[in-house]
Formats: sequence, C-alpha cells, structure tokens
Amino acid sequence: MVLFMSDKNSSNAMWGGRFASGPDAIMEAINASIGFDKRMAAQDIAGSIAHSAMLAKQDIITDSDAETIKEGLLTILSEIESGIFKYSTALEDIHMNIESRLQEIIGEPAGRLHTARSRNDQVATDFKLWTRDQCDAVILGLSALMSALVNQAEAGADIVMPGFTHLQVAQPVTWGHHMMAYVEMLARDRSRFVDARSRMNESPLGAAALAGTGFPIDRDMTAGALGFDRPSANSLDAVSDRDFALEFLSASSICATHLSRFAEELVIWSSAQFKFVALSDRFSTGSSIMPQKKNPDAAELIRAKVGRITGSFVGLLMVMKGLPLAYSKDMQEDKEQVFDAADSLMLALAAMTGMVADMKPNVSKLEVAAASGFSTATDLADWLVRELGMPFREAHHVTGSLVAKAEKQRCDLPDLSLDDMQAINNQITEDVFNFLSVQNSVASRKSYGGTSPEQVRLQVARWKEVLA
Ligand code: ARG
Repeated sequence: MVLFMSDKNSSNAMWGGRFASGPDAIMEAINASIGFDKRMAAQDIAGSIAHSAMLAKQDIITDSDAETIKEGLLTILSEIESGIFKYSTALEDIHMNIESRLQEIIGEPAGRLHTARSRNDQVATDFKLWTRDQCDAVILGLSALMSALVNQAEAGADIVMPGFTHLQVAQPVTWGHHMMAYVEMLARDRSRFVDARSRMNESPLGAAALAGTGFPIDRDMTAGALGFDRPSANSLDAVSDRDFALEFLSASSICATHLSRFAEELVIWSSAQFKFVALSDRFSTGSSIMPQKKNPDAAELIRAKVGRITGSFVGLLMVMKGLPLAYSKDMQEDKEQVFDAADSLMLALAAMTGMVADMKPNVSKLEVAAASGFSTATDLADWLVRELGMPFREAHHVTGSLVAKAEKQRCDLPDLSLDDMQAINNQITEDVFNFLSVQNSVASRKSYGGTSPEQVRLQVARWKEVLA
C-alpha cells in the first residue's frame, strides 16, 4: 500500500496535504539540501532506529512495526553504502529521501516512524552525531601529528638552530624545542575538540518541532542508544541550537591557524635561501617550466586552508546571528560550512603529518645559521651579570658595544680577541669565551620549558607517555 508516494505533478508527498500545486523549479532548487546532507545518511538511520525502538517500548507503535522499520532502514543503509540508492531533489533532504524509500520498501509502518518527531529535532540530532564523529576523527588526526612531531623532537633534541623574534635571529634554540612548541599548540587544539565534544553530547531527539510532544516518549532511552550523555533540557533550545557546529568551527579555525604558521615556516625553511629543512618528494611538486624547481605545495595549501575554515566559521556565525527561536530554514545553511571545514582540516592534518614524518633537518646549515646574527649576545650579557656582578642593564649596554665592534670588524662575537673585549670592559676574562658557543648557549637554558636538550628530552618523554 502506498500512502504518500511522491508524484512530480502534485505537491510534496511528505507535507503537501494543504498544497494545491507543487513547488516552482527554483523553489525546489533553493529549498533542497539533499545535495549535501546525504552525508548524514548513516546518522539519520541510526537516529530513526533509536526513535522507533523507543516508540515500541513506550507502546506508541507495535514491536512488529518497529522491527519492520528497523529492517527497512538497514536495507536502505546498505543501498546507500553500495551506491544504488536514488536520491531525489523533490524530496528535499536526507530525512525525507530515506522516509520515502522506507515507504516503498515496507509500506504502511513507515508512516508511523515520524510519530512524536519532527525534522527539526531529527536534523539537529543527525548533525550533532555527524559533528561528534568529526571531533573524534580530528582528535585522532591531531594525535598522529603530535606523535610525528615528538619523533622529530627526539631525533633532533641536540640540533641547534636560530631562534627568531621578528624573524630576526634572537637566540639559539634546538630543533627539538621548536618541534615541541607545535606539540603544545596542537595539544591545546586537541583539548578544545575534546571539550566541545563533551558539551555537544546532549540529545535533541524528542524535542519534536519545538515544544516537545504529547506522546509518552522516553528521551533518556534514545539519548542512551545514540551515545549521548543526556537529553537536552529545553526543546526550544534543542532545535535552534547550533553552538556545537560553531564550536567545532571555532576549534577548527584555531587549529588551522596553528597549521598555517607551521606551514609558513616550512615554506621559508625549505627555500634555497634558508635550506633549513629538506621536504620529501612525496610532499613536494615540480614546475612544468623550470626543471630545477621543487615546490612545497603541500605546505602552501595547508597555509591556505585556514582561509576557508575560518571563512566557514564566520559564515555560520552570520547565519545564526539574529535568528529568532526556534528553527528557521536559515539553519539548513549550517552543514556545508561544517562539512567543508572538516574535510579541509582532516586533509591538512594528514598532509602535515606526512610532511613532518618525512622531513629532514639540515644540521650543518642550521648550525651555521644558529651562530650567525650575534645569537649568543644574551649569553655574553648574562656572563657579565653572573661573573662581574654587573647590573643587567649595564651588561646589556656593554654587550651592545661589543656587538658593534664585531660588526665593524665583520666577525662574530666569539671571533673578537680578549684585547678587543677588554678595550670595552677591562674586567672581562678569557672565561667568557666558554659561553659564546651556540652549544653552550642552548645547554645552559635548563629552566623549565627552556630550549636545552635536557629539557626537550623531558618534554619528549612526557608527551610520549601521554600519546601512547
Ligand atoms: N533540511 C532541513 C535542514 O537541513 C531539515 C529541517 C527542515 N525543517 C523544517 N521545518 N522545514 O535544516
């Protein structure tokens, strides 16, 4: 028996009772979301199975109807997975496409599935389940990248390189320390996704259109079946809330910002001028005209992804701004933003993980660069404070004069003679030369969180344990 088969010439089979004619083609085009929300098919089916099982337990539908509905939905799931499911734009969205197909397969019981439910709580539930899955995927992706960075840090704990401020050589640091800086950033990202996930884990299902329902439903049961912590406590809020999507996008934007900073460093470091790092062929491309070129395209694209991810975040914020309670169709514009941002972020994480695993620091280049630009000037000033009891401000001034002298003689600080030094301050002794080497400089920075190989190894050990 076919109760509401879709008919091209009539109004929509799901809601067309009061309509004399079907929608204009343009109306159908602007209204349909099936082109993108088909990605939530598995979540939609899981939600419907949980809902119908609950309806049966509460004696709202019969056990046998619930069983028939479940079997029909599982058939649809396998049709979708095997690619033979026919999506229809006239049926607007994934919810109505699935329900209509269910009607074709099982007939009358299909019409009972939507009891005590609306597409408003249905879409909120599906979308939350989808976003929750993405949080899990991003958390795994972040952990993989963190592990790749920890491996780089462990192998390169002793490698010296210039540390920059204003992209001007500041003080020597270690390769391992630089890698571990990103581990800390990504760890904060990871905790943002964990945190967003725990806050989003309330079930909207059963909020119905906006006001709840008169049927004796059990919202704890459906919440539990779908892995939610609890049902949401206000039905108006439940159907109009998209905070979970905004939080996902916000955490994604910050994470993408971190990835873009690292990507920028890799672009700079892999250039002929720097040559700090060699990126693998697997994550580089060539030029079709210049045969010598090896371009860091993956890094550049990661650097760029932050644009569309943050664009999605701002885009959805603007959609939600000023929307009165409860559901408005505006909210259908939420999904593409999240889908695109999630895809972009997952791809960027995977590409960055591959690049980091493959890249090779150029030790000799890094050593030379670490010693350039008077990078141990602060060590010299610190020596004057420690050994001569000089106030730091005065030591800073004396060191400045020594730097000026070295600059004039076109040499580095360790190349000045003791006479040169004593001409500026006669208390300086031979001992100072022990503190001007880059190796000494990094080894001395043993303060907690500092750049010394010793501190880096402590952090590597800590993170290896956390990530294991
Ligand atoms: N396709 C819709 C969306 O994505 C589903 C909800 C429709 N609800 C409604 N009252 N028209 O938001």
